[in-house]
Amino acid sequence: APQVFRTAAEMRAWSREQRRQGKTVGFVPTMGFLHDGHVSLVKAACKRCNVVAASIYVNPTQFSKNEDFGVYPRSEAEDLRKLAEAGCSAVFMPASLYRPGSGSGGSGGGQDATMVVGAAEEVDPDAHETWVSLDRLSQGLCARSRPHFFRGVCTVVTKLFHIVEPDAAFFGRKDYQQWRVIERMARDLDMAVEVVGMPIVREADGLAMSSRNALLTPENRQRSVSISRALADAQRAATSGEPADATALQARVAEAVAAGGGRVDYVEVAHARTLRPLSGDVRGQPVLLAAAAFFGSVRLIDNVDFEA
Ligand code: PAJ
Repeated sequence: APQVFRTAAEMRAWSREQRRQGKTVGFVPTMGFLHDGHVSLVKAACKRCNVVAASIYVNPTQFSKNEDFGVYPRSEAEDLRKLAEAGCSAVFMPASLYRPGSGSGGSGGGQDATMVVGAAEEVDPDAHETWVSLDRLSQGLCARSRPHFFRGVCTVVTKLFHIVEPDAAFFGRKDYQQWRVIERMARDLDMAVEVVGMPIVREADGLAMSSRNALLTPENRQRSVSISRALADAQRAATSGEPADATALQARVAEAVAAGGGRVDYVEVAHARTLRPLSGDVRGQPVLLAAAAFFGSVRLIDNVDFEA
C-alpha cells in the first residue's frame, strides 16, 4: 500500500529522500473518487519515473459557490486500493492547503480552522492572497462558464508542485484546456517539472470517464453518451477530406448533444495548441473540438483533437 501523508512537510521529505537516492519522482494530482482514467495516469507515471506520488484533494478554490464542491464524490479507502494496485508509492491527502498550520504549513492536521468552506470567494485573505493565473490561455472554453476555475487550478497545482517537487506530472487530455494551461504555466514560470498529457479513457459506450459520472441519474447516464458520439461524428466529418467549416462543425455537435438530451454549455472549435477559435475550413490544422453540457445538474466535458 502507498504511504499516506497528510502534511506538506512529510510529503516533501519523502520526495526529497527519493531524489537523494537518485530516483525520479512522477506525480499525478487528483481530486479522488478515482476511475480508470486516473489509474491510467498513475500507470503512465510508473513507466516514466522510478517512483510515483499521487495527491487526493478536492480543491475548493476551483469551484464557485453554485457548483458541486459540497457533493463532489469521495471514497478514500477505495482510492487507496486503486492507487496501490496501479503502483503508486505515496499519496498526499492534506486536510486543507489554504490555512496556516495545515497541509501547506506542515505542522499539524489543521481540522480546527473554518476558513475554507467551499468556494474561491470564501478563502480568508488573511491566510491566502497569492494566485497564479494566465492572461489568455485560461480564457474561453471552460473559463466562460467557470471564470475562477483556472486560477484555482493553477494555484493549487503550483502549490502541489512545490510540495511534491516532481520530475514529471501527468494530466489527462479529458481536461484538455487544463492540460494546456498547466503546461504553459510550467514553461512560463520555469517550473522544473515536465508536464505530460495523456489520452482520454472512456467507458465501453464512449462516455469519457469522470468522477462526476457517478452523480448522473440512470436516464441522464444514457443521454450523456451523446457528447462523445457527437464529437466522434464531427471528427469523422472533418477528416473525410471534404471541406470542414468550423461553424458547421460546432453547430453539428451542439445540435446532436441537444437532441440527445443535454443542455449545451459550449461547443468550440479551436486550434489544438493555442486554443484560439478556428473559423472557416479547418483542414490542414491541428483541431480541438471541445464540448461541455449539463445532464440534469451534472456538467460533463469531452473533446477530440485531430489533424484535419
Ligand atoms: P480530477 O478531475 O480528479 O482529475 C485528475 C486527473 O485525471 C486530471 O489530469 C484529469 O484530466 C485526469 N482524468 C480525468 N478523467 C480522465 C479520463 N477519462 N481519461 C484520462 N484522464 C482523465 O483535474 C483535476 O482533478 C483537478 O483540476 C486537479 C488537476 C487535481 C487540480 O485540483
